[in-house]
Amino acid sequence: MKEAERNLRDDVSEILISEESLKARTRELAQEITDDYRQVDDLLLICVLKGAFVFLADLSRELDRPHHLDFMGISSYGSGTVSSGAVRIVMDLKEDIAGRHVLIVEDIIDSGRTLDYMLRTLLARSPASIRICSLLSKPSRREVDVRIDYLGFEIPDEFVVGYGLDFGEIYRNLPFIAVLKPEFFALTP
Ligand code: IMP
Ligand code: MG
Repeated sequence: MKEAERNLRDDVSEILISEESLKARTRELAQEITDDYRQVDDLLLICVLKGAFVFLADLSRELDRPHHLDFMGISSYGSGTVSSGAVRIVMDLKEDIAGRHVLIVEDIIDSGRTLDYMLRTLLARSPASIRICSLLSKPSRREVDVRIDYLGFEIPDEFVVGYGLDFGEIYRNLPFIAVLKPEFFALTP
């Protein structure tokens, strides 16, 4: 079939997390964060690009505390599904985080390498505090131990797309978290 005729939703075999569940869980996490940061006036949310942009947009709108937003571009995967192991900053923050209360917003923690790298990089800039909020985690794939302060869902070792997560830069706009059909998954983009 021609690329233009393909329907994105036909490429997925299973919806792991529905739009409704994502919305409900994001609201719960935002409530927790709102409560925990009640005394903090200078909260800074750092969105890890690109995957976390959808989650950040929803989480931020559910937070009932004033906060700044900033973005950090990290690349660890190239376009495939297997980590290259090498993590690098492709876009740095605009804001100075020294003395600030930082909350890192991630889409998924897989091996833990990306987050470990980010944490070390950001801690060197002397924030007042730093916590992690991740929508998803695949604990069975962990290679580096990382502490997740706010976690949406644990998922099994399957490659997922949607709600910001991509395969070969496609599928980020699907409103749910889904598993790709093997025939698409097998394609090397
Ligand atoms: P880690 O460094 O292995 O923890 O990988 C984290 C990054 O890999 C995430 O921020 C995603 O960009 C990407 N990633 C890991 N698992 C998946 C997945 O199942 N679907 C899409 N992207 C993933
Ligand atoms: Mg990511």
